[in-house]
Amino acid sequence: MNITFHLNGEEVTLPQAASTDTLLDWLREERGLKGTKEGCNEGDCGACTVMVTDTQGSKSLNSCLLFLPQLHGKSVRTVEGAAGPDGELHPVQEAMIEHHGSQCGFCTPGFVMSMVTAHANGATDHDDQLAGNLCRCTGYAPIIRAAEAVEEKPVPVWIKKEITSLPKVEKLNRFSPQSADELAGIYKAYPHALLVAGATDVGLWVTKQNRDLGQVIFLDGCEDLKEAEITETTVRLGAMVNMNKMREAIEPLHPSYGEMIRRYASTPVRNAATVGGNIANGSPIGDNPPALIALGATLHLRNGLTRREMPIEEFFIDYGKQKRQPGEFVEAVSWQRQEDALRCYKLSKRFDQDISAVCGCFNLTIEDGTIKDARIAFGGMAGIPKRAAAVEAALTGQPWTLETIKAAKLKFKDDFKPLTDIRASAKYRLKTAANMLERYFLEMTGEDASVLEVSA
Ligand SMILES: Cc1cc2nc3c(=O)[nH]c(=O)nc-3n(C[C@H](O)[C@H](O)[C@H](O)COP(=O)(O)OP(=O)(O)OC[C@H]3O[C@@H](n4cnc5c(N)ncnc54)[C@H](O)[C@@H]3O)c2cc1C
Ligand code: FES
Ligand code: FES
Repeated sequence: MNITFHLNGEEVTLPQAASTDTLLDWLREERGLKGTKEGCNEGDCGACTVMVTDTQGSKSLNSCLLFLPQLHGKSVRTVEGAAGPDGELHPVQEAMIEHHGSQCGFCTPGFVMSMVTAHANGATDHDDQLAGNLCRCTGYAPIIRAAEAVEEKPVPVWIKKEITSLPKVEKLNRFSPQSADELAGIYKAYPHALLVAGATDVGLWVTKQNRDLGQVIFLDGCEDLKEAEITETTVRLGAMVNMNKMREAIEPLHPSYGEMIRRYASTPVRNAATVGGNIANGSPIGDNPPALIALGATLHLRNGLTRREMPIEEFFIDYGKQKRQPGEFVEAVSWQRQEDALRCYKLSKRFDQDISAVCGCFNLTIEDGTIKDARIAFGGMAGIPKRAAAVEAALTGQPWTLETIKAAKLKFKDDFKPLTDIRASAKYRLKTAANMLERYFLEMTGEDASVLEVSA
């Protein structure tokens, strides 16, 4: 079966052989659509942004991290398809002209497609919607003014009808399972195949390392793994819940966690990256694991018909080593509903679109002025996402006072021997991690310790 999708309103059919060709390369090299630009080829600049529509709605995505089979049954709009069939400009394009939103123009197609998608979705948080698009010459103010100018303008018909005119397709092949059950069967039969979820890691193995991925299994069709289920007692997120959907689910329960996810990469990367991928890759600087450890989350693994679960911190054994057997995949993560005492502090060089140098997550239970329980976990402080066991021990059972906090801060050096790397020195990491504990105390006792309000 061939890969079939709509490109700017027209059906396209491709042989499926090219399973790790990116949409960006195909658009530019095979299709001659050079409006979509290649800047970084790693999800950082947004010059390659396109709008992709499926039955769930429209999303902005980085075409440099999108493999062609991931488009099967979907619809793609590039900047060449932003205007209408008779050449009438999209309101976003008119506004970009009117508000002088472009100079050299290299970034403009990416901005336009992020804005077209935000406009289609009625999203007006322009700073967040455009945080993944870099401009080096215009300056952002005129671009934001253009985005604001179209807020009330109707969505053009040709964009609106993307979702109602998706191509009718059959399943691509057996390596594109449509449910967790199907995935379990095929992965058990091909345990050495590579799972591809949002491809925000795997994409880079191709674009930056030129790796041949061998047999891949695309998880995108597993709709049942995309469910976020919140009951009175439990929160359960399927492995394929993407970061933007996760933020929506989590923000009302744990606003600080939601805020951290807002700073996870950019809108297009969050539209792709999944919670399962962020856990399974075992990265020591992934943002979700420390928060999930602090919440006391359970990881649900599946191998064929066999399921097992474990406290999520047990999954991370050592750098690059996780407790996952051949053929076993992450099915979900869950935790008990609880009163919100979680605070997540992400320290990175840039506010948006940056990996954490240190990510600290704190969840303390205080009863009658005493610390009953402490769950504290960090990213960026060890080869794995790791609990601060000595710090927790120094806190538990102690009075909830600044003296206790100051004493516990001295224990960080027992828990962590961080590295010096491009993001931060070991000394800086250790110091800021300990200071985060004090920040937690200040915030939880009503002092304003927000660092979002810093002004020059
Ligand atoms: C520009 C950019 C910015 C980024 N910023 C951040 C950031 O701020 N914070 C952060 O934490 N990360 C960040 N990342 C890293 C990346 O987004 C995450 O690691 C991502 O969550 C991986 O998920 P994915 O769905 O894209 O996984 P993929 O790339 O598809 O897969 C990653 C790995 O996990 C495996 N895998 C995927 N799903 C499963 C599953 N269900 N079961 C078992 N194995 C599975 C794959 O086989 C692969 O080995 C950034 C990445 C980019 C490109
Ligand atoms: S080329 Fe920079 S995000 Fe794709
Ligand atoms: S207009 Fe030149 S980079 Fe944005």
